[in-house]
Amino acid sequence: MEKKVNVGIIGCGAFAANTNKFLLSNPLYSVRAACDVNLNAAEQIAGVTGAAYYTADAEKVFYDPDIDAVFITTRHDSHVDYSVRAAKAGKHVFCEKPMALDRAGCRKIAEAVRQSGVKYSVGYNRGLAPMIAKAKALMASQDDKKMIYHRIQDPFPAAHWTNIPEVGGGRFVGEGCHIFDLLCQLAGSAPVRVYASGGIFSKSELVKIPDCAAVTITFADGSVGMTLISGTGSAGVPKESTEIYAGCKAIMIENFTRMSYFGYEGRERTNWEFDAPDKGMEIEFDLFAKSVAYGTEPPNGLANAARAAVISYMVNESVASGEPIPICEADYVF
Ligand SMILES: NC(=O)c1ccc[n+]([C@@H]2O[C@H](COP(=O)([O-])OP(=O)(O)OC[C@H]3O[C@@H](n4cnc5c(N)ncnc54)[C@H](O)[C@@H]3O)[C@@H](O)[C@H]2O)c1
Repeated sequence: MEKKVNVGIIGCGAFAANTNKFLLSNPLYSVRAACDVNLNAAEQIAGVTGAAYYTADAEKVFYDPDIDAVFITTRHDSHVDYSVRAAKAGKHVFCEKPMALDRAGCRKIAEAVRQSGVKYSVGYNRGLAPMIAKAKALMASQDDKKMIYHRIQDPFPAAHWTNIPEVGGGRFVGEGCHIFDLLCQLAGSAPVRVYASGGIFSKSELVKIPDCAAVTITFADGSVGMTLISGTGSAGVPKESTEIYAGCKAIMIENFTRMSYFGYEGRERTNWEFDAPDKGMEIEFDLFAKSVAYGTEPPNGLANAARAAVISYMVNESVASGEPIPICEADYVF
């Protein structure tokens, strides 16, 4: 029989409701507990997943000897506290992005995870999306510098808690980290400089932290990644789009659904299409289960997790100062 990874879900909101299917469909997982400060939400997720119990007390989950790993899917202000407490209790940690709201939080998690030796991964799923994996494979044997562009746009609700700095960290820390990780993964080289130009574009008084920016990341091999992040876009436009240019070849990915690549595999153009976006979450959950069950590397361990988190803090700093900010490994290996 295959080894099971018994999971406690902490945070039973929209994300847990939308993604528990990836736990249920994976034979490696068994959901044992659902926890939320809102007991009704916990009860609902327990019902859907067949968990043995639901609770509002995360401590019960951390000290349940029958739980191997926790999925931390709460709002951003509790990620550090729960990650540290889970690691100290010997539970493997899958924490949704962001890793933490600041560098001190990243450091606390890194220390707790290293001391306990548990597996730790952050939910940067984009880099594992099949079309992104294909792009990486296509470029694997190229030594050309890359120009990479990724757009993420939507009409982000002003009243969403992500816009409350102390709860959500704002758009760049709270969601942009996904894209900063994606650019690093596609570049395949270490980031050396972060520059961002942007500000608060929403007209709502509820938004008190920059919500739109053009961000440029320069990499050690000379590659350049650029992302346009807009929270004041249109629901009528596909949310994300990726373009990569290297060595007179090109790769275009539309919302993780349609991909065309030009000049690879001996063909002028190749198309690939899915019925719906695949942003890599199912693969990400599977790789985390395998890391716990078989001792392999988790999909987005400490260094990757902190790298994109630190870039996100630098984006806010660069928007505020108008200056580019140098970055090196010592900035994100805590
Ligand atoms: N990877 C992705 O593409 C993706 C997409 C959406 C959301 N997310 C992430 O998922 C996480 C949850 O987002 P969401 O959209 O489900 O938010 P949400 O507000 O819908 O749900 C959060 C839940 O956490 C609970 N909660 C808040 N503080 C808590 C605490 N201290 N202890 C226990 N429970 C607590 C709330 O009651 C709520 O039920 C966030 O980290 C978010 O960034 C990731």
